Amino acid sequence: MKKLAAGNWKMNGTRASLAEVAALLAAHPAPACEMLLCPPATLIAQMADAARGSALLVGAQDCHAKPQGAHTGDISVAMLKDAGATHVILGHSERRTDRGETDELVRAKAEAAVDAGLVAIVCIGETEAEHDAGKTLAVIGSQIDGSIPGGATAANLVVAYEPVWAIGTGRTPTLAEIAEVHSFLRGRLRGLIGDEAEGVRILYGGSVKPSNAGDIFAVPHVDGALVGGASLKAADFGAIVDALSAA
Ligand code: 13P
Repeated sequence: MKKLAAGNWKMNGTRASLAEVAALLAAHPAPACEMLLCPPATLIAQMADAARGSALLVGAQDCHAKPQGAHTGDISVAMLKDAGATHVILGHSERRTDRGETDELVRAKAEAAVDAGLVAIVCIGETEAEHDAGKTLAVIGSQIDGSIPGGATAANLVVAYEPVWAIGTGRTPTLAEIAEVHSFLRGRLRGLIGDEAEGVRILYGGSVKPSNAGDIFAVPHVDGALVGGASLKAADFGAIVDALSAA
């Protein structure tokens, strides 16, 4: 399985930020892992143009479940593909919280994505209260059951475990907690999609940075990272790509 270093720029970046992409590619022309950046929708086409022929893949942060129509402000999977995206992040906790996205909606979006030939990166994760109450496995088990698309395979599905309380906080679970969750997720995926589960990349996300990436990537069943803040700077994201390539 090829590991995946994915960056989620969230609502950050303008055309000037594409200089970071040029710097990343100059320093990492052929990493041993897959390298993906998901900029805001306004930058997908330009980033995909800049990445053409390089090792960098470009993805989106959301899509609509319907193919087209009267949905002001939304973006369809066909539009994402046309812009050059190959991946789409779905069910990020910020969308589950800010936009009230449910497992059912996330699954519908993921099905639209994989039907169109995009890779769906389905995000799950418990809140701090759920974590402190010992409900982590119950919460993420039910999220994964409800969110992954029908017809999921190792090629079209990536799962990202992002504890809500670790996002943008500088806090992370212990390595033992990450190990327990990722092993649990592999088993849960096996129950859902059988042997395909072995090849599904399970990413860890939440305050991944160059200083902790190596330790996190050494944890069994951690097949890469979904990186927020540290993906905005080529030097930091590049260091995480290096750590994953060496893992
Ligand atoms: P941070 O790396 O900024 O904690 O964000 C993680 C995340 O939400 C990636 O999707």
